[in-house]
Amino acid sequence: MELLDKLNWRYAAKAMNGKKVAQEKIDNIIEAARLAPTSSGLQPFEIIVVKNKAIKEAIRPVAWNQSMITDCSHLLVFAAWDTYTEERINKMFDLTNEIRGFKNEGWENYRKMLLVAYPQKDAEENFNHAAKQAYIAFSAAIIAAAYEGVDTTPIEGFDPAKVDEILGLREKGLRSCVLLPIGYRDVDSDWLVNLKKVRKSTEDLVTVIE
Ligand SMILES: Cc1cc2nc3c(=O)[nH]c(=O)nc-3n(C[C@H](O)[C@H](O)[C@H](O)COP(=O)(O)O)c2cc1C
Repeated sequence: MELLDKLNWRYAAKAMNGKKVAQEKIDNIIEAARLAPTSSGLQPFEIIVVKNKAIKEAIRPVAWNQSMITDCSHLLVFAAWDTYTEERINKMFDLTNEIRGFKNEGWENYRKMLLVAYPQKDAEENFNHAAKQAYIAFSAAIIAAAYEGVDTTPIEGFDPAKVDEILGLREKGLRSCVLLPIGYRDVDSDWLVNLKKVRKSTEDLVTVIE
């Protein structure tokens, strides 16, 4: 199947059947998220992979009681940095120097610019910027899952403060921003499975400027 066929096959599953997804597929989905581009390469988020039944059961009531939370195989929680700090920025720039094996003046100047610009900004503004980066990885994970023939449901319908509490995220300087149950569609009980995909036309979406 071509990628576009797989993206047409993909939908936001409303019911999952509890079947486990092979670890290799989970690893590939997470690797796609890890490889996603982010602003200045900071990757300002973490991904929490919940396999634990009791934790899934604790999250479900604070996520509009959506059944996919407990009937998925793995529940991914995308949690963005609560703000940008000097330490966090330096860590990523140092990692770049370490991996590439050299220091570059342009890159170091760019580091200095971010160190001046980001940490002094309002934490909420920084969190919102970090959350946008997390969504890019989230999207990569959704596409990778479709590529693997695995279902997902993007979920914003939850109480982030409650999920933060359940997972102890605030103590780690993180805030949950979006959830992604990964599993297999329950074809017998999912009302959405056979409905046509609805998208606006390319003409309505795209403006070409020659
Ligand atoms: C960021 C985001 C949050 C969403 N939150 C929910 C959700 O909480 N529950 C749900 O059932 N679907 C949720 N959806 C699924 C969308 O409703 C769905 O992707 C959209 O209607 C397009 O349909 P399709 O993905 O089945 O093609 C969400 C999608 C996105 C991208």
